[in-house]
Amino acid sequence: MTTETFSAAWLRQREPFDTAARNAAAPALELQSRLVARKRIPTEPWRVIDLACGTGANLRWLAPHLGGSQQWLVVDHDASLLRCWPERLGVTAAGEGLDEPLAFCGAGFQAAVVRQHIDLTGALHTLPWHAAHLVTASALLDLVSLAWLSRLVAASMAARVALLMSLSVDGRHRWTPTDPQDATVARVFGAHQQRDKGFGPALGGGAVAILQRELRAAGFRVFSARSDWQIDGRDGPQARAMQRALIDGMAQAATEQAPASAQALRAWQQRRHALADAGRVSVGHVDVLALP
Ligand SMILES: C[S@@+](CC[C@H](N)C(=O)[O-])C[C@H]1O[C@@H](n2cnc3c(N)ncnc32)[C@H](O)[C@@H]1O
Repeated sequence: MTTETFSAAWLRQREPFDTAARNAAAPALELQSRLVARKRIPTEPWRVIDLACGTGANLRWLAPHLGGSQQWLVVDHDASLLRCWPERLGVTAAGEGLDEPLAFCGAGFQAAVVRQHIDLTGALHTLPWHAAHLVTASALLDLVSLAWLSRLVAASMAARVALLMSLSVDGRHRWTPTDPQDATVARVFGAHQQRDKGFGPALGGGAVAILQRELRAAGFRVFSARSDWQIDGRDGPQARAMQRALIDGMAQAATEQAPASAQALRAWQQRRHALADAGRVSVGHVDVLALP
C-alpha cells in the first residue's frame, strides 16, 4: 500500500484549473436546476457532506452554485489540510482547533462549515447520510477501490441522497505537440494510479466508468460531463508551472512503477519541460451527478 499525501501547495496550484474545468462541465450537467429540484423543502438550508475535502476547493466552487443558506460537513484524514481551511476561506476570526465551526459567505450564499478528521476507508457509514441533501467529492475517485465505491453507492441509495463526484480522472492525456513516449508514460502512470492508496486496489482512471455503471445498476439517474484540465503554456507562468508540476508528477510516479525505464522517463521529462512554454495538455476528467 502507498500512503499518498496531497500537499496544500499542490491543491492550491491545481484549483484554478479545477475551477475552469468545472465551469465548463456545469452547464452540460444542468447542475443548478437539477440540484435545486432535489430539495424537498426549498426553504431548508442545504445540507452537504464533502468527502476527502482537502483544503476546501469543492466548497469554494459549489457553495455559490447552490446559493442560499447551507450547512457543510467536510471530512478528510489529513488534519494538516483541515487546519488550512480558515486561511483558505478567508475566515480570520477562527481559532486553531478543528472543532471550531467556520462561516463562509459570498454573493447569494452563507455556509456554516464543520470539519471532521476521519479516515474514509472505514468510517464512510458513520456519516449522517440520511440528514444530507447532497454528498459530494472532488478529485477522489481514482484513489478508491471497487469495494469502497460499491459501499458509497449503496449508502447513497439507502439514504436516497444525491451524489456529485467531480473531477475524476479518466486516463486521457492529450499533449500538443506530441512526443513518441507520451502513450508509454501515460500507460505506466496509469498502472501506478492503481496501487492501493488505503482503500484497497485503486481504480485509477477506470473509476469513473465503474461509478457510472454501479450508479445505474442501483437505480440512479446519472448525468455526466467532461471536466478536462486545459493547460496551455502560452497562457502564462501559472499554466507553465502547472504543466511542469504535472510532467514531474507523472515522471516520478512512472519511475516508481517501472524503475528499469528510469532513463527513458527522465528523457521524456526533459523533452516535455523544453516544450512546456509553448505546449499544451488536456487531462481527461469527468463530473458525475447522480439523482436517486
Ligand atoms: C486530490 S485531493 C482532493 C482534495 C479536494 N477534494 C480538492 O478537490 O482539492 C484527495 C484528498 O483525499 C484525501 N484522502 C485520501 N485518503 C483519504 C482517506 N482514507 N480518508 C479521508 N480522506 C482521504 C486526501 O487527504 C486529500 O485531501
